[in-house]
Amino acid sequence: MSSSLPDRYRAMVVRETPEGFVKTVEELPIGQLPDNDVLIRVHYTSLNYKDALSAIGNRGVTTHYPHTPGIDAAGIVTRSRDERFKPGDKVIVTSYDLGMDTPGGFGEYISVPADWIVPLPEGLTLRESMIIGSAGFTACYGVYKIKEGGIEPDEGPVVVTGSTGGVGSFSVALLSQLGYQVVAVTGKQKEHQFLKSLGASEIVPREVVTDRSNKHLLKGRWAAAVDTVGGEILDTIIRQTRHNGIVTCCGNVLGPVLKTSIYPFILRGVSLMGIDSGITLMPRRKKLWKRLSEEWRLKKMEELTREVKLDQLADEVDRILEGNQIGRVIVNLTG
Ligand SMILES: NC(=O)c1ccc[n+]([C@@H]2O[C@H](COP(=O)([O-])OP(=O)(O)OC[C@H]3O[C@@H](n4cnc5c(N)ncnc54)[C@H](OP(=O)(O)O)[C@@H]3O)[C@@H](O)[C@H]2O)c1
Repeated sequence: MSSSLPDRYRAMVVRETPEGFVKTVEELPIGQLPDNDVLIRVHYTSLNYKDALSAIGNRGVTTHYPHTPGIDAAGIVTRSRDERFKPGDKVIVTSYDLGMDTPGGFGEYISVPADWIVPLPEGLTLRESMIIGSAGFTACYGVYKIKEGGIEPDEGPVVVTGSTGGVGSFSVALLSQLGYQVVAVTGKQKEHQFLKSLGASEIVPREVVTDRSNKHLLKGRWAAAVDTVGGEILDTIIRQTRHNGIVTCCGNVLGPVLKTSIYPFILRGVSLMGIDSGITLMPRRKKLWKRLSEEWRLKKMEELTREVKLDQLADEVDRILEGNQIGRVIVNLTG
């Protein structure tokens, strides 16, 4: 390690104890980080649902504890063995194994393979890149698939579920900015003003997209959908989607099972498109980040964001687990 590096760095650590999984902010030896190509001083990270799963011991996300979660990080290269990056470069790392079994962005330093790194696009600050983070990138990917699939704003409403959450709120704002009529589904009555401010033209309760009638097709309402919750809501939305509509799905808040029938697909030509931002290949990853920094640069980034410090993060993790998080939470690690 270079002599200009501190010996220790601050990080949120999740430890498995007899009482359960416990989160504390600790000072860790920097020499304990994995010996990867590029060492990065993290300036900002953001909170995603997956981080909360890692923080409660979900073995599908993280197998080894103690562990530092954080699937997103933006910062400055401190040291590099890879010729693509040099000290001082501003960079973004999202997904791959970061924050899963590789110490993640909830610490002041990360050490990662160079292949995981996206240079910060011109037109975004490090802070803005974490307002976007994995949630915003996932929202962008869903909107990209709707757009590439040929659904234009004049074809009818686009419904967004889990609309006050990270992926949902970003989707509402991005779709609205691109001229789509957005119907936001939420369980939070008191957040209607927030969703309006992001550009939702209509706000409906979850019951509107929860049908237990077992009818194979329902009245066609949506030209497209961004579903972040799955389960019976995704099943209902598929049956409510109009001829040749596109439904994107990314989340499993309501569990892993999807029950549906073949009819929306063979009688209405509905397409169901999955989003896995975690394994997006680098050329497309860079293309979407470039788009997010240029023509799809979100005007309402600040409206959907709260900034916290590392010491406040544990409470924010609990809030996202309860389904009570609003918009995006970013963590400033520079202070
Ligand atoms: N596939 C991928 O690449 C990818 C990437 C990022 C995230 N994800 C997944 O996408 C999902 C959303 O992530 P996120 O970061 O946006 O999480 P989040 O901020 O916690 O948002 C989830 C939202 O779902 C809604 N919700 C909560 N409980 C619900 C329930 N019982 N029934 C219906 N809706 C409920 C809430 O919105 P309302 O109160 O407004 O309804 C909540 O804000 C997660 O499952 C996450 O793992 C997947």
